[in-house]
Amino acid sequence: MSDYAHLLPAYRRQAALGDAERTAWIRADRWLETAQAWSALARLEDLLSYPARDRMPCLLLYGDTGMGKTKIIRKFLRDHPASFDRGTGVTTMPVVAMQMPAESLERDVYGELLNALGAPGPATDSIYRQKEICRSLLRSMGARMLIIDEIHALLAGTFRQQRIFLNVIRFLANDLKVPLICAGTDLARQALLTDPQLAERFEAFHLGRWANDLHLSQLLSSLGGILPLRRPSELGTAAARRRVLDPTDGVTVRIFRLMETVAVEAIRNGSECITADSFANDDLVPPLVTVTRQAEKQLQRRIAR
Ligand SMILES: Nc1ncnc2c1ncn2[C@@H]1O[C@H](COP(=O)(O)OP(=O)(O)OP(=O)(O)O)[C@@H](O)[C@H]1O
Ligand SMILES: [Mg+2]
Repeated sequence: MSDYAHLLPAYRRQAALGDAERTAWIRADRWLETAQAWSALARLEDLLSYPARDRMPCLLLYGDTGMGKTKIIRKFLRDHPASFDRGTGVTTMPVVAMQMPAESLERDVYGELLNALGAPGPATDSIYRQKEICRSLLRSMGARMLIIDEIHALLAGTFRQQRIFLNVIRFLANDLKVPLICAGTDLARQALLTDPQLAERFEAFHLGRWANDLHLSQLLSSLGGILPLRRPSELGTAAARRRVLDPTDGVTVRIFRLMETVAVEAIRNGSECITADSFANDDLVPPLVTVTRQAEKQLQRRIAR
């Protein structure tokens, strides 16, 4: 049996599995620490350890759809999970993460926040009461950071709803003595900047698209070290990087899907490795890009409405 020296030691065992199992493994959800993701997580860690003071710093994590914003937030949540103390019966939640509700009404925002805190309240409560409950829960659960994902959803609202929502964000940023993190697309950044006070409070972290540089080489080399193919892939060449960048426009989700597709194909056709030629198969690439472009168009339509 080969020792699969081209794979990282922890992943060698996978390569000995059957085709179906390896295919399933390739398609499964996983976390890969890319250079930008690492920097974003380091920034979040830094903010989490920030001492409470009157004006807490806020962060906007922005980038195109599919660049990995939600993945980064989930990873950060896994690193800082809620815990329950049996002795005292108290739940501690250092990081609270919620999604923007589909409709950016004030009530829905607080409703979502209560859900995130594991305390969905009666929808009949007044906004004032909901706000008070959120405040006291965040305090009693020891929340040290609040994350709101998908804030571009605010753009789906009317102008008036958008103003109201920006007021809610301003309230949360000023009133809770915890850093507020918002994640969304560039459109969300532009919306946030229309409020001068928020523009001043938020530092921006941009998740840029992949380019033909060292970071992409590192990503491809990491993938080459974990994808359970039995022969070494040739992903370190300029040609391979071009073949990855061209059809994906440097968008993370497309790069991951493309790599998964060619890896599965390498198992299916028995080549057991990825080379620049693996990307030449036109049957593989166009559907992949079309699918993600369609998803982007849908999002744009939703925002334009
Ligand atoms: N660090 C990562 N490790 C593994 N897979 C990743 C990573 N980042 C992104 N992906 C892949 O890209 C997909 C899209 O990522 P994610 O949902 O985080 O994007 P997003 O920036 O939140 O997009 P949207 O703006 O549409 O919400 C993930 O489902 C995953 O398959
Ligand atoms: Mg997302």
